[in-house]
Amino acid sequence: MSSDDQKNIDLILLTIGVLIGVAVGLFVIARDVSNANMERMMLNDREYQAAVNERIAPLGRVVLDGEAVADPGVTAVKDAPAAAVLMTGPQVYNAACLACHGGGIGGAPKTGVAADWNARIAQGREVLNKHALEGFQGAGFMPPKGGRVDLSDEEIIAAVDYLVEQVK
Ligand code: HEC
Repeated sequence: MSSDDQKNIDLILLTIGVLIGVAVGLFVIARDVSNANMERMMLNDREYQAAVNERIAPLGRVVLDGEAVADPGVTAVKDAPAAAVLMTGPQVYNAACLACHGGGIGGAPKTGVAADWNARIAQGREVLNKHALEGFQGAGFMPPKGGRVDLSDEEIIAAVDYLVEQVK
């Protein structure tokens, strides 16, 4: 082999080496560019964005009265059920007065017994109502609203109506 041949071979090897280097370099650059593009495309994808929005959505939000609500699962406060209907006199009596007045417990005037009620009814309805609402201490103790302070004045007075009617 002449030294010229050797030089040519060296040159060819060098060229191949450089080409391989360039190829590897291009591969690395192409890979980085494609990764960056993939990421950008994913972040711009509507479905991906919707999924993220769903994941990071707050559990609840305040809805102002009258504000339109897009999500049918959310109900505005104004749609909350209306306040409970008032109980009738007999209903209140059964729920809150019967326990004591039904059997005349602890000195309570017994329901329907005129002897227990006549003197009290003689005080007038204003006094009876007031004592039923605010409580009354005589020989026994009548707690305010019979202990059911959650009931409205109207409901308690309806129960007094009922108690008074039972005597007549
Ligand atoms: C924990 C027992 C108890 C419950 C419950 C109770 N009362 Fe009485 N109530 C009494 C007692 C005891 C008296 C008698 C107080 C006294 O004269 O010393 C009385 C007296 C009254 C009187 C007569 C007050 C007066 O001026 O003489 C009325 C009216 C009355 N109760 C209404 C009611 C009504 C209405 C309810 C139900 C909402 C009710 N009470 C529930 C114990 C009770």
